[in-house]
Amino acid sequence: MKPETNTWNVDLYNKKHAFVYQHGEELIKILNPKKGEIILDLGCGSGQLANEISKSGAEVIGIDSSNEMIAEVKTKYPNLQFFVKNASNFQFKKPFDTIFSNAVLHWVIDGENAILSMNKNLKIGGRIVVEFGGKGNVKTIIRSVKKTLNERGYMKNSNTQIWYFPSISEYTSILEKNGFEVEYAHLYDRPTELADNENGIKDWIEMFGSSFFSDIPSQEKSAILEEVQNNVKEKCFINGKWYADYKRIRILARKVK
Ligand code: BEZ
Repeated sequence: MKPETNTWNVDLYNKKHAFVYQHGEELIKILNPKKGEIILDLGCGSGQLANEISKSGAEVIGIDSSNEMIAEVKTKYPNLQFFVKNASNFQFKKPFDTIFSNAVLHWVIDGENAILSMNKNLKIGGRIVVEFGGKGNVKTIIRSVKKTLNERGYMKNSNTQIWYFPSISEYTSILEKNGFEVEYAHLYDRPTELADNENGIKDWIEMFGSSFFSDIPSQEKSAILEEVQNNVKEKCFINGKWYADYKRIRILARKVK
């Protein structure tokens, strides 16, 4: 899943941001897929998790809003089905037993519409097993990006809203309002080691936060990234490695109406 305004670099994503799907393997254990179960992978990205889930014998369908990603995964996993669809407004003819989603729902600013779509596409008694950025996610990085943009006069860029990081109370209230019973909700710190020891934070922002920099000349953007990386060093550079201060929200809920 990608932000609509970011240019998604599939190659950079696969090479340097493999942690996105590697962490998802833990969520598959919680999903505990069963043979015959029909599962939607919402925001399937590079397809590794959909493929992993399918090894259980479950029937897996993946959706993603990125044409590039879907084109790639269709070639990579020809035995699975993938479609380009938007998380906040999708519709299948047959409802699913389960909807799984890892590291995606924070891209859907209108979280309630994603919940409505999940409800519409689940059987009664069907479950959602989802994890994404929760309240306080990448707070250190965001604060520094906004502060640096403001100081350089880019107020509009600094106010760009790219992500949705809800608290437990906020998200579970919306779920309950929209026909779900919440069985498990957890908000936890998951500092995430970044792939590049030199440019870890700069690469992360380039990959995921480029919407902050629309219309900023590239030289100025490079200078801002350099400044941000220096500013967060005290908190995010630990024992010679860069970390992003991820905070995840993990939710298990069931459709009751
Ligand atoms: C996350 O996985 O928490 C995340 C990834 C990209 C941008 C923002 C958050």
